[in-house]
Order: sequence, then C-alpha cells, then structure tokens
Amino acid sequence: MSWDELYVRTLLGGYRTLVRPVLFRMDPEHIHEWMIKVLAALPAPVRATIPVFLGKPQHAVSVAGIDFPGRVGIAAGLDKDATAARVWAPLGCGFAELGTVTAQAQPGNDKPRSFRLVSSKALINRMGFNNPGAAQVAQTLASYGMFRGTNPAPIGISIGKTKIVPVAEAIPDYLTSLRTLAPYADYIAVNVSSPNTPGLRQLQEHSQLEALIAALTAEAKTLNPTHPVPIFVKLAPDLSDAEIDAAVAVCENQGAAGIIATNTTITRENIDPADELKALETGGLSGAPLTALALAVVEKVVARTNLPVMASGGIMTPSDAQAMFDAGAQLVQIFTGFIFNGPALIAGINRLTHPAG
Ligand SMILES: Cc1cc2nc3c(=O)[nH]c(=O)nc-3n(C[C@H](O)[C@H](O)[C@H](O)COP(=O)(O)O)c2cc1C
Repeated sequence: MSWDELYVRTLLGGYRTLVRPVLFRMDPEHIHEWMIKVLAALPAPVRATIPVFLGKPQHAVSVAGIDFPGRVGIAAGLDKDATAARVWAPLGCGFAELGTVTAQAQPGNDKPRSFRLVSSKALINRMGFNNPGAAQVAQTLASYGMFRGTNPAPIGISIGKTKIVPVAEAIPDYLTSLRTLAPYADYIAVNVSSPNTPGLRQLQEHSQLEALIAALTAEAKTLNPTHPVPIFVKLAPDLSDAEIDAAVAVCENQGAAGIIATNTTITRENIDPADELKALETGGLSGAPLTALALAVVEKVVARTNLPVMASGGIMTPSDAQAMFDAGAQLVQIFTGFIFNGPALIAGINRLTHPAG
C-alpha cells in the first residue's frame, strides 16, 4: 500500500468510526445546517492550517477558460447560502458550486425534506431551493471579498427558478439571478434538473432549453463582452437518450461552456431492503444508487459533444471519481459522498485518482 493510500484510509477510517456515528444520530437537515455554520465560522488562521492535514487540490486543469487548481469540488446544494464559501478551497476542493440560488428568497418545501438511507449509502431530498435569494448571496460573497477571478478555487453559482414564478416566465427570473451573481461567479450553473420545483425539469425540453440558454449566454455577453461568464447546464439522470441528444445539441448551439451530469434521480433502483420505507419519500435520490446511472449519462454526453463535462452523481470513493475521469469528465463534484465520508473523500480523490489531460 502506498503512503497516499494509507493516509486516505486513515482519514476515512477516522471519519467513519469517530465522526459519522455522532453526526448520523441527528436529523439530516439539522446536522447539515450545523456543519455549514461551523465551517463558515472557522477563523482565517484555522482555515489556513487545514491543508496541512488534508492536502491541497491536485491535477490542475483549465476548463472553459477557468483555471481549476484541482479536479474535485462540492456539488450544488451543500452550501446553498454561500456562507461557507471560504472553506472549500482549504478543504482541498479545486472549485465549489454554491446555491442553487433563486432570484427571490424562498423557504423551500415543508420539513422534513431530507432523508438518510444509511444502508444504501444514499440521501433523498425534496428541499425545493430553500435559499436567501440572489441579492443576499451576492452580499455574502462581497463581504468575503470573493469576486470572479479572485478566488483560490473557482466559484460556480447554481441558479434556479423561483418557485412562485410560472415556468412560462422563467427566463426573466433566471436573468435576474445571472445579473446579480455574475460579478461573483467564475461560472454559472443553470439548474433545470432539480426534481423538487414543480415544472422545472420541463425546461430541459428542446425549445424551452434553447430559449433559456440563448437568453443567458446573450446576457452574459452583454454584461461582459470581452470575458462573459461561462454558462454550464446541469442535466437530470432521468433523460432518455433522445432527450440527452437534444439537450446537448442546444448547449452546443447556444454557446454553453459545458455540461454538469447529473442531478439527483427520481428513480428508486439499487435501494437496500433496509431502506425500503424511506425510499417511498418523494424527492431526488443521490449517492451510491445513482453511481452507475450518472456514469452512463456522462458516457453518453461525452460521446455526443466536445463540451467539457463535470460529473456529479454517486461519487462515493476515489475509484468512482476515477471512473468518471476515465469516461471523459474533466471535473467531478461530490455531495452525498462528502456526507458519508467527510473531507477524506476530497483528499482521496486528489491523491488517488489519475485524471487524463
Ligand atoms: C440535500 C441535497 C440538496 C441538493 N440541492 C441541490 C441544489 O440546490 N441544486 C442542484 O443543482 N443540485 C442539488 N442537489 C444535487 C447535488 O448537487 C448532486 O447533483 C446530486 O446529489 C448527485 O450527487 P451525489 O450523489 O454526489 O450526491 C442536492 C442534493 C442533495 C442531497
């Protein structure tokens, strides 16, 4: 066993045996909020020492004109309010996707809305874009001095539709978020794939997606003609092959910078029998049951386009990340894997994977 493997195994073992059992005794949303509060409150000298223990991002790469110091980042939904934005780079992330943020502040769906399926290594959530709104997130990032191009690890900001805005009026709503957040974002992720906002996934349909991405890329150019903020589009894992083809074609034709594959699934495959009751909860399923499905979508997207792909979905181990790199993804995002394995997964992906290029 190499030194890197031993180091990652020790970190993972420590998290799984000492930290996770305590965290997993509490309600998933409650402990998540608490974790984000603790991370957000870490003072600068503490943040500066984290890399001594966890290591730095590795395998730097330039994608869509953005310099990423490492290939693994956190996925949207982990830091919805951007309050912990300063901690992701010290934790070893090569980038962080904040949000999803909507133009108007909104509370999200009724609680409980997040469920842990421990035996399946999975989560089900129907959060519904609870967030403080684009203006507040902009203010938070401004207060941290985190502007586009100034961050040690690039910041993506995921934008979505405000729930009370009808789908037919989605475009001006997304444009408001883009205008408000573009000064802070190294890239914008367009979320049209959450299953928890009624009608949102309709926006992946060809003509609707075309109008939305055309409007966003045009506005990005208006806001910054020489250096428009790159627009990534996040797709669902539940699209048919024909729908993937159509969505990818729109991304190419309308000037999107890349694709994020995938969001959570509404399917309920690969659930451990011990979690059958929880699997009945409405919402998006993430984690280990999604691994193969997300990988298959990444493979399909890579086969259809030269646009860069960020992989998200069921990356629970460094070898899951390696499979995404082998499939052609340039970058990987983690959420459920981070909840189940802690920062050790970031260190593991940094140290134990060998991305191409
Ligand atoms: C509690 C929770 C909240 C999420 N919120 C968002 C969100 O706001 N926007 C988004 O694009 N994806 C969201 N996601 C999806 C993740 O970003 C990710 O794409 C998905 O969970 C698959 O990755 P994973 O298996 O590593 O968790 C959320 C996932 C979870 C579990």
